[in-house]
Amino acid sequence: MLPRDLEEVLNITLTHNMWRRRETINLIASENVMSPLAELVYLNDLAGRYAEGTVGSRYYQGTKYVDALEDALSRRFANVLGAKFVDVRPVSGTVANLATYYALVPESGTVASLPVKYGGHISHNNVGGLKALRIKAVELPWDLDNFNIDVDGARKVIEEKKPKLIITGASLYLFPHPVKEIAEIAKTVGAYVLHDSAHVLGLIIGGVFPNPLREGAHVITSSTHKTFPGPQGGLIATVSDDEVNSSIQRAVFPVFTSNYHLHRYAATYITLVEMELFGAEYAYRIRENARALAEALAEEGITPVAERQGFTKTHQVAVDVSKYGGGDKIALRLEEANIIVNKNALPWDKSVLKPSGIRIGVQEMTRFGMGRSEMREIARFIARVIKGEDTEAVRRDVVEFRKMYLEIKYGFKIDKELVDKFLGSLNLYT
Ligand SMILES: Cc1ncc(COP(=O)(O)O)c(C=O)c1O
Repeated sequence: MLPRDLEEVLNITLTHNMWRRRETINLIASENVMSPLAELVYLNDLAGRYAEGTVGSRYYQGTKYVDALEDALSRRFANVLGAKFVDVRPVSGTVANLATYYALVPESGTVASLPVKYGGHISHNNVGGLKALRIKAVELPWDLDNFNIDVDGARKVIEEKKPKLIITGASLYLFPHPVKEIAEIAKTVGAYVLHDSAHVLGLIIGGVFPNPLREGAHVITSSTHKTFPGPQGGLIATVSDDEVNSSIQRAVFPVFTSNYHLHRYAATYITLVEMELFGAEYAYRIRENARALAEALAEEGITPVAERQGFTKTHQVAVDVSKYGGGDKIALRLEEANIIVNKNALPWDKSVLKPSGIRIGVQEMTRFGMGRSEMREIARFIARVIKGEDTEAVRRDVVEFRKMYLEIKYGFKIDKELVDKFLGSLNLYT
């Protein structure tokens, strides 16, 4: 018998599992689910271990298997991304960013980045990660016509402010940023270019989004759990020389991490192999689905932003819902109908605290096997909520609809024998 409060915790967790995986249409653009094999392997002994240091040079004993896993993961990512070196130790995208800033930006140096309303992540800005390091951010200007960085405006800012680091890549990310052009400008002032690929790593590996390292970025940072559907984690990949890589390694440890959440390495490796095998098809479907969802929303009279540019070339769609009550209200109403999105600031917003938009990502529903016709169905559900229909009626329809899409695709399956063998190795029953 478990204590009552533990029963309660188990119940909450089980209910959450069922709700988010079986009953909701999850459209949070920064989330995903692992494959069954990756998820099984995620529960392992390394969840409680340490391995401070680098492969072959640890401060703890007992790390020979960690070394093997970390080395294999780092090399495989480097190979897939065309990087010289990949540090897989950052526990998240934010930590990867902070470590990179610390390594590349000298004291009192400046960073050029996009503010949140243009899609920049908080860790690119003075409100977030840069604040912790007391690094000053100057804003890259935005070209509303192209829904992208304004290259001519950026040239002026970069030439005048001479930042040490220029951050491209974003959280609201509809079209690839002009990394090649920014890298050319960066050269003239000796700045590094970082592409934050947190949102698009799976699309890059799947071959439907340009690889920033081939376009002139010196570094990419990323999460490993958005369009790349691995466990939560981070990485830093570079094409730079050994000195830069050593600075990055020294920033990851001992400055920003002590343990690296080692239990995620095997699951991340499995996900990488799955992406090599199935990622091209998966990434292609994601991009098709995002476009299909945007077009279907437009047909419902809820036209997403960037219509003239074709709405999206990623997994994301953004909708300005200010005339329906704003992002806060609509995101809450959608949640009542079991459709999970986030409110999101848009470039024309006066305050990011009162966002006029919602951001929608299709990567997880694509993973559950949905295609163009399902996107049309989802657009209809969203439109019904936005136009004011009773959310309980929509919720009932969403729950029925979702029952048909429970199998996770684009990854390895597991059977009972493997589950017993793997969990058995943990000695949980004795
Ligand atoms: C562009 C971008 N970079 C970094 C992050 C932070 O990633 P993490 O949550 O892994 O720290 C996010 C989060 O969604 C993001 O959108």
